[in-house]
Amino acid sequence: LSAQKDGYRFFMEKEIYEQSAVIADTLLGRLSENEVLFDELEDGFFDGINEIKLCACGTSYHSALAASYMFERYSQVKTSVEVASEFRYRSPIMSKDTLFIVISQSGETADTLETLKMAKKAGLKTLVICNVDNSSMVRIADTSILTRAGIEKGVASTKAFATQVTVFWMLSLHVARIRKSLDESEIEKQIKFLRNIPASVSVSDVMHERIKRLSKRYLHGHGFFFIGRDVFFPLALEGALKLKEISYLHAEGYPSGEMKHGPIALADPELFTIALLPQHMLYEKSKSNVEELSARDSTICAISPLEFDKADDFIQTKEHEHYMLEFFEMMVVVQLLSLEISIRLGNDVDMPRNLAKSVTVE
Ligand code: G6P
Repeated sequence: LSAQKDGYRFFMEKEIYEQSAVIADTLLGRLSENEVLFDELEDGFFDGINEIKLCACGTSYHSALAASYMFERYSQVKTSVEVASEFRYRSPIMSKDTLFIVISQSGETADTLETLKMAKKAGLKTLVICNVDNSSMVRIADTSILTRAGIEKGVASTKAFATQVTVFWMLSLHVARIRKSLDESEIEKQIKFLRNIPASVSVSDVMHERIKRLSKRYLHGHGFFFIGRDVFFPLALEGALKLKEISYLHAEGYPSGEMKHGPIALADPELFTIALLPQHMLYEKSKSNVEELSARDSTICAISPLEFDKADDFIQTKEHEHYMLEFFEMMVVVQLLSLEISIRLGNDVDMPRNLAKSVTVE
């Protein structure tokens, strides 16, 4: 078994390092100079679609949340996101002008599969974003887009999430071109940025070493808050989920601007705040949210390309031209932070207690 880990301590670590290569695969053949191409989608696939509904569980739900920001911002399509186990029992309104998208690494998650069947039955057009060809969801959905992450062994999903978000960024631009909701020049610009995702997620020794060292300060405390705004809020949720899954420490993802409406009451030196502070998305607003927590003496680990002196720990990311590239680099940072905390606590990173890679029963 250890041979397959290629010298990495755990599959999760190996899979974090693989992200650059698998994202390159996900992009392969799909980018021209001014267009994002999906051979999977027939001409006119988006005709008559006025709304997108995304449904998933766990990490895949977080990529769906990230997608909703991009579908509204770039494609200008009304978009909503739901947890599959909620959606299936709440008599949802299904209108025929809605494209129903399910997201699943495995394609087998029982709750998500059921929502797909419901949508089909209601006559909606369906699409699955999935990592496993010939899985139940791929067989049932009208159309599928495969994420090409390769086999993911770690129960805590990393590279599957990375490729899902990559597909969604591409898809939002694909739809933007059809609906003319973005200028051609803006689409061209973003296609250049898409090509930079593999570089933005490649792990540097310096970064990994830095995270490994500072992780020793985060093994106790009464809880973690991962905070971010806009698309960095779903990333905060995902960071908190990773930590919970493999470290068994309590963590929550929260919108930075919402902390003052309750959670800030918890702030003290034993409350750990992991703050996502990208340069190109609401920097000043996010910064003042973190300063409020710093003033209440929360222990803060700030992740940002810009120097930030109100934090106890500072992880400096690279400067990127687009906030989504910052998203991808920060994704790697929160993954590595969870990994190193879990390893220090002596946990089995790849097989966390009580969890299954794929939940095929309700
Ligand atoms: C399980 C796994 C999670 C995963 C979720 C959804 O709970 O432990 O890591 O995110 O299922 O899985 P899916 O295969 O549908 O993406």
